[in-house]
Amino acid sequence: MDRLTTTAAGTLFGLHGEPAHERIVLATDEASGLQAIVAVYSTARGPAFGGCRFWQYASDHEAYNDALRLSQGMAFKNALADLPFGGGKAVIVRRPQTLDRGALFTAFGRLVESLEGIYITAEDVGTTADDMRAVQAETRFVSGIPRENAVYGGNPSPRTAYGVFVGLLAAVEAALGRTSLDGVSVAVQGLGSVGWDLCERLHQAGAQLIVADIDATRTARAQDLFNARVVATTDIASVQADVFAPCALGGSITEAVAANCQFKVIAGGANNQLISLAEGDVLHRRGIFYAPDFLVNAGGIISCVREYLGSAQEQAVLAEVAQIGPRVFELAERVRASGVAPARAAVAWAREKMVAC
Ligand code: NAI
Repeated sequence: MDRLTTTAAGTLFGLHGEPAHERIVLATDEASGLQAIVAVYSTARGPAFGGCRFWQYASDHEAYNDALRLSQGMAFKNALADLPFGGGKAVIVRRPQTLDRGALFTAFGRLVESLEGIYITAEDVGTTADDMRAVQAETRFVSGIPRENAVYGGNPSPRTAYGVFVGLLAAVEAALGRTSLDGVSVAVQGLGSVGWDLCERLHQAGAQLIVADIDATRTARAQDLFNARVVATTDIASVQADVFAPCALGGSITEAVAANCQFKVIAGGANNQLISLAEGDVLHRRGIFYAPDFLVNAGGIISCVREYLGSAQEQAVLAEVAQIGPRVFELAERVRASGVAPARAAVAWAREKMVAC
């Protein structure tokens, strides 16, 4: 799970040195076994919108910190994507014992409903559209559900991957002056919903792929279909490649990775890639352009929001997601003008936008 050190971990009431969360709810439901944390970082722009993660953690403290970091990231993401929503996130702690999944997510739906609309949920790692259907039985504050006869909505991953692709392309142009990915080498960490779709797009664009996943069937398929070079999961962050695209879980840019990696650009789908902003500073000093996760992976939330509002068709959603490209260029401009590392510049930019809209 998103690895947290003491520099990035939260106190009970918020992340170190950052404005505190507006609301943090800890909830249990004995009948279903639900143990959940809902973290609402900000509702300044509107209700807090962000997915629900279902994951097994080393400790409850780790789950708590994950919820806090993820919800803050959602506030930045929604603000930078100009969505009329604040940021929040839910974490359901996955226990090793078998549970009735339907009952668990129905109980989670009751929890979301009890918050009276300050938090709107959707899929995240470990949850599916079916889970969201169970949530929907209890609350209307949910998105990411395929609608009959609608060509938009449902699983947000393809739109996330499209946004990451657009953002990666823009980051390569901004940092390296190249307008095509033909011949550009990209190391992709994680070949799940987002990483796989991204690989397909990168391969079509002529990129040379280096891949790693804990699931060997996925890497073998990538080798066959994309002529990808497969490396161990422990090596993917240290290979020689132009671009690194973290698409597994968070925390892949550790102090050691930031200090030693050989990439020129980092742009990927995973949330909370940096252990802390300090790693972003190190990358910047070393001339590596880091396109922040919460800027480039907004495609999924844009899709969920438009589905929730019932306000867009597929082409309009894709056009909105494509705006991630110009935003990466604007961030590069802000970095040039201020001398501040992209991660810090993006946080400052998001905070400017975290006001009522
Ligand atoms: P997923 O669960 O479908 O895929 C994750 C992949 O990473 C799996 O193939 C897994 O085997 C692999 N993996 C796990 N640990 C690994 C390791 N140490 N090294 C290499 N591979 C490893 O998840 P999904 O939906 O693709 O999401 C990936 C990331 O993108 C997550 O951090 C998620 O929070 C983030 N994200 C996803 C969005 C979406 O729409 N699915 C939206 C925004 C962010």
